[in-house]
Amino acid sequence: MSDRTLNLDDKLYQYVLDHSIREHPAQKALRDATRSHPYAGMQISPEQGQFMGLLIKLMGARRTIEVGVFTGYSALAVALALPDDGKLLACDISNEYTQIGQPFWEQAQVRHKIDLQLRPALETLDARLATGEAGQYDFAFIDADKTSYDGYYERCLQLLRRGGLIAIDNTLWSGKVATHDTSADTVALQALNIKLHQDDRVDLSLLPIGDGLTLARKR
Ligand SMILES: C[S@@+](CC[C@H](N)C(=O)[O-])C[C@H]1O[C@@H](n2cnc3c(N)ncnc32)[C@H](O)[C@@H]1O
Repeated sequence: MSDRTLNLDDKLYQYVLDHSIREHPAQKALRDATRSHPYAGMQISPEQGQFMGLLIKLMGARRTIEVGVFTGYSALAVALALPDDGKLLACDISNEYTQIGQPFWEQAQVRHKIDLQLRPALETLDARLATGEAGQYDFAFIDADKTSYDGYYERCLQLLRRGGLIAIDNTLWSGKVATHDTSADTVALQALNIKLHQDDRVDLSLLPIGDGLTLARKR
């Protein structure tokens, strides 16, 4: 028994993977295809992808948002969990990164669910708000440039319906949020964590999964 989350050593982490991960073959293939990428560390872990898929199914989510696609693993995890007529508004600025994932979205037969928008995510989200889509989304995942997280959060909060969920990645930032690191990314995440803690527009949980995953449910 423990009153705090365990740090998993390699053996116990492998046990978690061996006893819980149920990846579609396209998910495993996409992880393999990303492994040699110089920024492979940006990809979420398989247990986080599966957890987010479970959240999507629990919520019965149909309209979803992702800010930060990279090679498309988290988008694939969400799209696989959506019903066939579900949609993911996938925001990124890199054609190079997102092109890597698209054959795997095809392989998993979820390409039709993913609306990939290649321009700064703040512009994409503002455009959706301008066309009257506030309150119409069920779920959003934020995983892009850290200094814009607060802007993504505010826009996603408007786009979500009541009871909708925002999942925010990297909120523990390899532990740097609990240090005096003054880099712009750390300072932005520290400020967001303080703001979220006091934000009575949402119900909140900061989970020590991956690099820290904050769940904020719109009240
Ligand atoms: C941490 S990676 C996303 C990882 C992805 N969720 C996964 O599981 O593989 C961050 C992504 O954010 C994108 N990005 C950076 N700045 C952005 C911006 N202003 N608008 C949209 N995407 C941006 C990058 O191109 C990169 O692909």
